Amino acid sequence: MSHKKLRQGIIKTCVEMNRSGLNQGTSGNVSHRIEGGMLITPTSMAYDKMHHDDIVEMAFDGTYTGKRLPSSEWRFHRDILKNRSDVNVVLHTHSIYCTTLATHERGIPAFHYMVAVAGGVDIRCSPYACFGTQELSNLALDALKDRTACLLGHHGLIVLADTFATAMWRAIEIESLAKMYVHALAIGEPPRLSDKEMAQVIEQMRRMSYGQAPDLDKVKDTPKTIDATIKKPVAKPTAPATNRPAAKPRTRRVAKPAPRTTAGRTK
Ligand code: 13P
Repeated sequence: MSHKKLRQGIIKTCVEMNRSGLNQGTSGNVSHRIEGGMLITPTSMAYDKMHHDDIVEMAFDGTYTGKRLPSSEWRFHRDILKNRSDVNVVLHTHSIYCTTLATHERGIPAFHYMVAVAGGVDIRCSPYACFGTQELSNLALDALKDRTACLLGHHGLIVLADTFATAMWRAIEIESLAKMYVHALAIGEPPRLSDKEMAQVIEQMRRMSYGQAPDLDKVKDTPKTIDATIKKPVAKPTAPATNRPAAKPRTRRVAKPAPRTTAGRTK
């Protein structure tokens, strides 16, 4: 894609972030990988006023060109894109429910299977560090290990993706999960899915390229079965879910307040 198209993609994503309610004002930023660096939103500029030449071009050494100052969070955008070859897009927002959990230094545990959209059994929350600092960037990279999203303590959400569309999709799913988790907590700490159950979900998502919405007609314009189209079968679970011994194991899983161990500062 040309730089101009990528610049327009960044602006479109920012406008969509605010339109969808995922973000408010200018408390977010978006970058896209280019050869040797990235294109990134300028700092503190209203998205609906942004023109493609307001987007800043920055090399991985931190030097930049353009008529605007880069986002104050250029360090974590730069470090993520430099260290994660699987990522093209970094999206940051102060979405309300993710940030609500982050103010308690809580990540999102496996209370719902969709937590796997971030690539693992939980979505971590990093400890707090001041915005725009190298310390925050280092903490974010740690919290993102083997994941495509993390919360930032007392701050917000970071989502990683290969395309703008997937970044928005993932961010909206994670914000919805955070909302559900906050509501679930009103009744008490919800039981967790086990690592085995989450491994099955992760494998199922991998098989289906879940979240990619593949255009199957491009693959073959003939009748097809789901099993022939998706990737190789997942191992059968050892026991059908309905035979699972009822409440007992679930009760055990909630015995410890696990979010504190995966989700930031321990007291
Ligand atoms: P910028 O306007 O500098 O991108 O800052 C917004 C923000 O989210 C800081 O964390």
